[in-house]
Amino acid sequence: MKAIAYQVDSDNKTGHFIEVEQQVEKAAGHDLRVKIEAISVNPVDYKVRQSIISSQDQPRVLGWDAAGVVESVGDKVCLFKPGDRVFYAGDITRSGSNAAYQLVDERIVGGMPKSLDFAEAAALPLTSITAWEALFDRLKINPQTDKGKHILIIGGAGGVGSIAIQLAKQVAGLNVIATASREKSRQWCLCLGADKVINHHADMPEQYKHKELTMPDYILCLNDTDAHMHAMMTLIAPQGMICSVVETRESHDLDKLKTKSAGFVWEFMFTRSMYKTADMIKQHQLLNELARLVDAGEIKTTLNKTYKQLSVDNIIAAHKQLEAGSSIGKVVLLK
Ligand SMILES: NC(=O)c1ccc[n+]([C@@H]2O[C@H](COP(=O)([O-])OP(=O)(O)OC[C@H]3O[C@@H](n4cnc5c(N)ncnc54)[C@H](OP(=O)(O)O)[C@@H]3O)[C@@H](O)[C@H]2O)c1
Repeated sequence: MKAIAYQVDSDNKTGHFIEVEQQVEKAAGHDLRVKIEAISVNPVDYKVRQSIISSQDQPRVLGWDAAGVVESVGDKVCLFKPGDRVFYAGDITRSGSNAAYQLVDERIVGGMPKSLDFAEAAALPLTSITAWEALFDRLKINPQTDKGKHILIIGGAGGVGSIAIQLAKQVAGLNVIATASREKSRQWCLCLGADKVINHHADMPEQYKHKELTMPDYILCLNDTDAHMHAMMTLIAPQGMICSVVETRESHDLDKLKTKSAGFVWEFMFTRSMYKTADMIKQHQLLNELARLVDAGEIKTTLNKTYKQLSVDNIIAAHKQLEAGSSIGKVVLLK
């Protein structure tokens, strides 16, 4: 099968994407073999690419977001059958979705929303799993009892922010303040349901004061945790909770949260598949619930740009767009 892989030259300096021919492996155990129809690009793609620095490393197929059709199933599969349309992010420890076929554990796969095409569906899985787990598993927001509480979503117009705003508003019923630094990204956040938008490049506590906003019970940080840590610790309401999905380069003094009895928690959407946690099927369940919400018209796809072909040139262009840090919504490539 055709796949697009990344490899580093013998000088150990320059790397490039190449088209490779690989054997199509048989599905075994809980695995589905999926014929991929569309993939989406995420910052994890360029972060993994940047970590490949030696020519000794095997060419690596990147990409952890796909929509496609189940082609065959392993002997332990019970959730899907050949012909089912599915969407999933996959497992960072395995080969990625920039390929014609992929093996993926059924417990981290969802049935595709019936109302979406493959490109619209491929935009959703990785970012939705991240936002869902951050809101409901890490921040432990309970849609029954926490309705009307306040959340600050930092980086609202990005891939994760675009679905986090919708889930926080439509599913949790929260009051949502999102951040964006440009008129285009500000409007995008408002269209997705944010109640108000502030600028993450300006003093956020000052903007809260000036606009007389209520201190957030929850903060979801989707960009530059280091730069926003001080503001987050200043803004969080007493007994509130901060969740970040972005790694830090510096260490931070969490003692500042002590008098508020506030907490800080990480979200990493690959944890369940990486450690094969006993509850990894929760990703299957949340993707199915997401599909139901999409088909009910409560959540919309975050797709914003589609490349018509999964090619080396288009992968390079998509990586460039994401690395610029100003992407709005999601970028998808059709097979
Ligand atoms: N832990 C996990 O499981 C997990 C999962 C998914 C993503 N992530 C990480 O989360 C981050 C965001 O992912 P993404 O897919 O949403 O990225 P993305 O789509 O590339 O995000 C782009 C957005 O970031 C905003 N932005 C740029 N600089 C910012 C800053 N200093 N503060 C706040 N927002 C800023 C931009 O808004 P403006 O143009 O308005 O400035 C832009 O709309 C990445 O670092 C990614 O690796 C982690």
